[in-house]
Amino acid sequence: MRVIIVKDYKEMSRRAAEVVANRIGKKPDLVLGLATGSTPVGMYSELIRMHKEEGLDFSKVRSFNLDEYCGLSSDHPQSYHYFMHDKLFNHINIRPENIYIPIGDVENANISCQWYEKKIKEEGGIDLQILGIGRDGHIGFNEPGSSLGSRTRIKTLTKETIEDNARFFKKREEVPLYGITMGLGTISEARECLLLASGTNKTEAIQKSIEGPVSAEITASLLQLHPRAIIIIDEEASQNLRQKDYYRYTEKMAEKLERK
Ligand code: F6R
Repeated sequence: MRVIIVKDYKEMSRRAAEVVANRIGKKPDLVLGLATGSTPVGMYSELIRMHKEEGLDFSKVRSFNLDEYCGLSSDHPQSYHYFMHDKLFNHINIRPENIYIPIGDVENANISCQWYEKKIKEEGGIDLQILGIGRDGHIGFNEPGSSLGSRTRIKTLTKETIEDNARFFKKREEVPLYGITMGLGTISEARECLLLASGTNKTEAIQKSIEGPVSAEITASLLQLHPRAIIIIDEEASQNLRQKDYYRYTEKMAEKLERK
């Protein structure tokens, strides 16, 4: 695991966008796994800037989103479909037919989940998966107790997640109770994972994910088993890390090696 500690949200967003741009540079038809929530919004803004000012080209990129609420149609302003178009897709040159987001309002959700898994495989698997983290340590909607080998499926959201996400809705009662999410097995198969976190409300989840035991209770801890996981966090989110000095030192040493 590579842990990169940066000053603040702005720098986290910039560094994350650089990773994405670098991977698209190396593989223009990159299969990019995407997340919603407030965390990646700054990175999406930076990617839009890179597209407009530096010609970052998304024309061959294919994208798969991690999750979607069940019961919200794709044009609902709080759906992740709407969010992704508003925050990223409408402002870059990704082709609509290359965008995949789980469909939350289908009658037979199980068929939709299986279709999503099949589609990821058909497109060659995810090259780079972007992840945020919930206060309870979740990634995607993989709440505590999720099987570490799980696939795309419906999950019941925890009270904590519902409360956290209520800020996007007019009333708490409007937050859907279920989500459709890539599983932890699905996420683990991504060739590379990039997890972002900012702010003091993520401090505990970050410490447990990076330095605690790998456990279904903190599903982000699964990244400890991933051969290529990068974690970019700001000062606030890194506050409780016991090995903080060592992570900084390794980053400095890695930069030195890169310069050689
Ligand atoms: C959303 C997702 C979630 C969020 C997490 C953090 O697609 O996968 O796991 O990343 O709930 O949300 P924010 O960034 O709003 O704190």
